Parts: sequence; C-alpha cells; structure tokens
Amino acid sequence: MNQDELKALVGQAALQYVVPGEIVGVGTGSTVNKFIDALASMKDRIAGAVSSSVASTARLQALHIRVFDANDVDQISVYIDGADEIDPAGHMIKGGGAALTREKIVAAQSTRFICIADESKLVTTLGAFPVPVEVIPMAARRIERQFAAMGGTAKVRMKDGVPLVTDNGQCILDVSGLAIKDPLAFESEVNQWPGVVTVGVFAHQKAAVCLLGTPSGVKTLTF
Ligand code: A5P
Repeated sequence: MNQDELKALVGQAALQYVVPGEIVGVGTGSTVNKFIDALASMKDRIAGAVSSSVASTARLQALHIRVFDANDVDQISVYIDGADEIDPAGHMIKGGGAALTREKIVAAQSTRFICIADESKLVTTLGAFPVPVEVIPMAARRIERQFAAMGGTAKVRMKDGVPLVTDNGQCILDVSGLAIKDPLAFESEVNQWPGVVTVGVFAHQKAAVCLLGTPSGVKTLTF
C-alpha cells in the first residue's frame, strides 16, 4: 500500500467516530482530505462541520456538507485531523499545511481529538519535523533569535518566492533542530512569547485516539 492509500484507509476508518446528528470538527491536510471525501457518504446523517481552514471549507462545501462558524456552535464532540508527527503519548506537531491556529481553536472546542495519520508520522520524540509557528510578521526576527537561543533554527516559510500568508494574515516560522522532550512545557513557554500566534505543538490539545495506517491495516492507539 502506498502512502496515499494508507491515508485513504484512515480517512475512511475515522467515520466510525463521527456522531450521527452532530457537527464534526474537521482539520486540514492531505489525510483529512481523504476523510472529507469519505464523510460525503454520511452527509445526510450529520448536522454539518466546523472547519479549520479555507481549503477544508471549500472541499466540504463542494461535497454539500454544511460548514458552521465556530462561534455559532458550542462544544463539538469529535475533531478529526492529521499530524506531522505524533509521539507515544499523543502529543503532536501540526501545521505543515499552515492551518495550525484554526486547527488548535477547533481542537480546543472539541471533546475528543481523533488523529489520522500514516505510520511514518509516529516518532519517539517530537522535533525531527520542523515545528511550524504562526507569528505576527513584525515579531519574526526576534522570535527567530529566541529559537536560536534554544538551539533551533527558524526560517520564514516561503510560497512562490514570498513569505506565505496564512488564512489569518500572518506568517509561519518553521523551526528545525529541536528535540522536544517535554511538549507541554515547550508549548506553554513558546505560547507566551510576544508575537507568537500559535505554536504547532499540540500537547494541551493532544490526541485521544490515533488511527495509524499500516500495510496490515489500521492500528488504533489510545492515549
Ligand atoms: C495542517 O496545517 C496540518 O496540521 C496537517 O494536519 C498536517 O500537516 C498533516 O498533513 P498531511 O495529512 O497532509 O500529512
């Protein structure tokens, strides 16, 4: 099975966590795209979705799935999203698709985070994947220096030769060279640096369940 097929496998498997009659929280990325496509088969049995990005909203709406504004919805029972890395405790690095801020908002509004990923995303320690951090552009240089003091190297994410602009009008730093041994402490510390909008370590909003796509089928990890 190739990576695309593994993503489709977990996207389909995530349907079992969708609660009929309710609104589902929907993440962003290539794995979630498979979930959204699978969700279309249930569209008449759910109330709709709260989406974490402009891209996921467009995909949901193209499949005639109603998208609600997060402010018009109370608690969401289930949030389904991918990850760039997941550790054995369910902590994740997210934001490879630049949607980390809205992902964290919808995850915080949801009771359970169901992570869907192919098995290459499971790691012992977070940090080999550069940590995405959404920042206010005027603070980028100072935040780069703060990461350098921690031993990391932060680079502004580029797209088509210019700094990428997120759905929230900010920019992304990708921070390499870190081994994040205490994800909760790391997230708390970086969160309080002025100019940081969101750090792409999801430790306070960690996964409750991870559906891992493997060549022998879906492996379910619970945390
Ligand atoms: C989007 O901003 C990310 O958090 C994604 O959830 C993460 O990058 C995983 O994406 P893929 O499913 O495309 O690997």
